Amino acid sequence: MTKKSDYILVTGGAGYIGGHMAGMLVEAGYKVVVFDNLSTGVKPWIAKGARFVKGDLGRLTDVQKLFKRYRIAAVMHFAAKIVVPESVSQPIMYYRNNVGGTLNLLQGMSEFKVKKIVFSSTAAVYGSAKKMPITEATPVAPLSPYGASKFMVESVLEDAAKAGLIEYIALRYFNVAGWDTHRAWPVKGRPVPTHLISNAMKALHGAGELGVCGNDYNTPDGTGVRDFIHVVDLCWAHLRALKALSRGVKNEVFNLGADRGFSVLEVIKAAEKVTGKPVPHHISPRRPGDVEIVVASSDKARKILGWVPKHTLCDILRDEWERKWAV
Ligand SMILES: NC(=O)c1ccc[n+]([C@@H]2O[C@H](COP(=O)([O-])OP(=O)(O)OC[C@H]3O[C@@H](n4cnc5c(N)ncnc54)[C@H](O)[C@@H]3O)[C@@H](O)[C@H]2O)c1
Repeated sequence: MTKKSDYILVTGGAGYIGGHMAGMLVEAGYKVVVFDNLSTGVKPWIAKGARFVKGDLGRLTDVQKLFKRYRIAAVMHFAAKIVVPESVSQPIMYYRNNVGGTLNLLQGMSEFKVKKIVFSSTAAVYGSAKKMPITEATPVAPLSPYGASKFMVESVLEDAAKAGLIEYIALRYFNVAGWDTHRAWPVKGRPVPTHLISNAMKALHGAGELGVCGNDYNTPDGTGVRDFIHVVDLCWAHLRALKALSRGVKNEVFNLGADRGFSVLEVIKAAEKVTGKPVPHHISPRRPGDVEIVVASSDKARKILGWVPKHTLCDILRDEWERKWAV
């Protein structure tokens, strides 16, 4: 698919997952251009060996300039706003950034005849699914503007593919955590993410207590149950998706999870075991937009992409701990 002169465009490549992905692509021998507005991403996270263009997907002219300057073979689209409670309080900003930004990206792709795109979707599109595990056939019913914005993008991709404009693979990630500890990740200069494992690490480093959001869910210990996937496994799945697109797999949606659920209290216990330290925590109220249990079935990705996640929850926690959060 890729001529030597062609680039893989990584939108959001200064962020957590996009930063890992760009690094993996460079190591695999691809030419990479990162496009990011640095709203939550930071420059030091941009992979060495990747080109960087600062720009905003919200501005069509930024996108057009990018496609004019670089010949793009395929797009990996990570750029988005991703905080569920923030999306509940600022829905218009979320739809504008996540849906509007993607429309500009697709317009740029179509003007410059770039067809292939791997899209970062999310398990949040399923909302509060009744039956576990969640497969790609589980009905979609997002509970937050964040989840809804991602499903809107999937619908746009589907229609654009039907019109022959693009070929896409949408990857619905479950909870992503961990770090590639072989890479030097600067720990300062970026707000710490709001996810459970990051918050547990902050608490372990003495930066206050971890708030366990709700212990009255209908789960064995009352706390929410989640499926955690290591960021390195996730990026590896993207590489498989890129290769699948070039051998004709297209216009498909895949779940990416470890296919195992852990409750918040189980994660806390595992973090204590891995680090040998107590995680200071307290129970706080449920957060708007959060759901009870989310566990993936990633069978489809295993079969069609030939992808198998290799890291356990303890690997994730160990890598997070080794990364040494600046707090
Ligand atoms: N982290 C998770 O657990 C998780 C789970 C499911 C899906 N996802 C998806 O993965 C993708 C990456 O998430 P992340 O955790 O790396 O988040 P992140 O905030 O670290 O990265 C997002 C990046 O996109 C950039 N960005 C945002 N809006 C932009 C715009 N309009 N123009 C240009 N750049 C813009 C930000 O500056 C940032 O670098 C997102 O699309 C998210 O929805 C993440």
